[in-house]
Amino acid sequence: MLRLPKFDVVSIDDLSIGEIERVFVLADQFTAQLEAGERLRIADGMVMATLFYEPSTRTRLSFESAAHRLGGCVISSASMDASSAAKGETLADTVRVVSGYADLIVIRHPYDGAARVAAEYARCPIINAGDGSREHPTQTLCDLYILRRKKGHLRGLTVAICGDLKFGRTVHSLIYALARFGANVVAVPNRGMAVPDYVLARLAAERNYSFSSVSISELKSLAGGLDAMYLTPSAPHQMALFTGEMPIIKAAEPAQGPAALDAFYVTRFQKERRSEGERELADYVRFDARALKTSRTQEAVVMHPLPRTDELAYELDADPRAVYFEQAAAGVPVRMALIAWLLENAGRSRKRTAGAAPLILKAENAPPCSNANCITRHEIRYLRPRFKPAPAASHSELCLRCEFCEHELKVQYVGHARSRRYYRFDESLLGYVRQWLEDGTLMVVETVKQAEEAGYEPYRRGPQREIMNAQEITRAVEAIAAQIIRDLPDLARVSVVGIVSHGAALAVRLCEIIERQTGVDPVRGAGRVSRL
Ligand code: NCD
Repeated sequence: MLRLPKFDVVSIDDLSIGEIERVFVLADQFTAQLEAGERLRIADGMVMATLFYEPSTRTRLSFESAAHRLGGCVISSASMDASSAAKGETLADTVRVVSGYADLIVIRHPYDGAARVAAEYARCPIINAGDGSREHPTQTLCDLYILRRKKGHLRGLTVAICGDLKFGRTVHSLIYALARFGANVVAVPNRGMAVPDYVLARLAAERNYSFSSVSISELKSLAGGLDAMYLTPSAPHQMALFTGEMPIIKAAEPAQGPAALDAFYVTRFQKERRSEGERELADYVRFDARALKTSRTQEAVVMHPLPRTDELAYELDADPRAVYFEQAAAGVPVRMALIAWLLENAGRSRKRTAGAAPLILKAENAPPCSNANCITRHEIRYLRPRFKPAPAASHSELCLRCEFCEHELKVQYVGHARSRRYYRFDESLLGYVRQWLEDGTLMVVETVKQAEEAGYEPYRRGPQREIMNAQEITRAVEAIAAQIIRDLPDLARVSVVGIVSHGAALAVRLCEIIERQTGVDPVRGAGRVSRL
């Protein structure tokens, strides 16, 4: 039996830049060989299984064509409704069984994080062909391949990504990849369809990358042919990322005029990912030839992962800048290249550089993932929610990131399962929280009611104890201020200093009271040290 390496492609970030470039080299070779009508046998004996739990035309057929054209063969279920999934078989069981029949599994699934689960349970490599609204890495390979072919390079390009950026999985993978290749992204979401926070959090944490968003009304003015709209990528991320060659398009200053766009990536309204939605569809922007008429857009290619509905005018099809059918056609050589790359790596194993091992919250100690479409909310018989601590915006919130769908869960109460005590979270508890996560004793809940229903009692000492209530604090601060006013004759020479993490707020309150009562602001008089 052929042994492909257990290299799963769940996210586009599972492939390094070097690996993506190798795939492109192979794709160029296959394009030439296909054109020359060569018959290839490099995947002779390979069996690829396609498990598509959602509709597909391009991804599935191009994968299947790719396997056949390499000399391999394909097994598939006509529809997952015709498989044991319809009898209630879990995803984990299905992929365990199918990895006994195939050397490679290509899977598409409606739930976010499903491909990661498949990768954990299958013995053979898993390629994600779209998991819910999370990612679609092989579509990104096709997108990048065509974009690079059209523009000669990726670094420094400016790509406007339009439409449903919330649920469009092709968009998420594409943004991660463009960030890595040093391209600028201008997000042009339809109303209420902005790039989700978990995507932005990954970009910020792993790539030091951020980008500007352009509102739909601005897009409308662009679509209306106006040249006045100022589009600028928030370029500083690139400066931080690339210390070597600088991107071609630098942070455009308004004085220099707007940056040119290299590509529009138009996407479909993902109606199947919403329960309501027709209302939003009504103002979904339609992209037509007018958008290419401005001086900044003349060189832009128009991309789309397809299928299109009404968002992309048919009149564009004849324009040489419309490259969406080329993207679709690239599906075969690019997916052949991905399979060939796996074959090239047969026998190798992968060193995972990804951070620390996940910290797992026991099922009985964790609320469900905050994302209703997360696989952990559906495959409940065997899957446990799994979170990693993530940076939080507020000191009084514990932020946990789901290992499967990456959505964040923000909790205010944490508990210790052995002592059955709960605490209102504050930053000073972080060390304990990590420790409890590691030894499996952390419990998190969103409300006191939930904690008490689970049999936990409030922790009465330490950070939980109320030493003074708000009124008492106000009275005490006023008394201290009164004492300062009374005892210090020259308030203009007084500095009030507090420690940044704790006393600073108190210092500011004292200064405010002193200023209110005397007209002298001791802080300003004393310089910066006291504005903590
Ligand atoms: C996309 C998908 O399935 O996410 N299609 C594709 O694979 N080319 C895009 C879409 O359905 O809108």
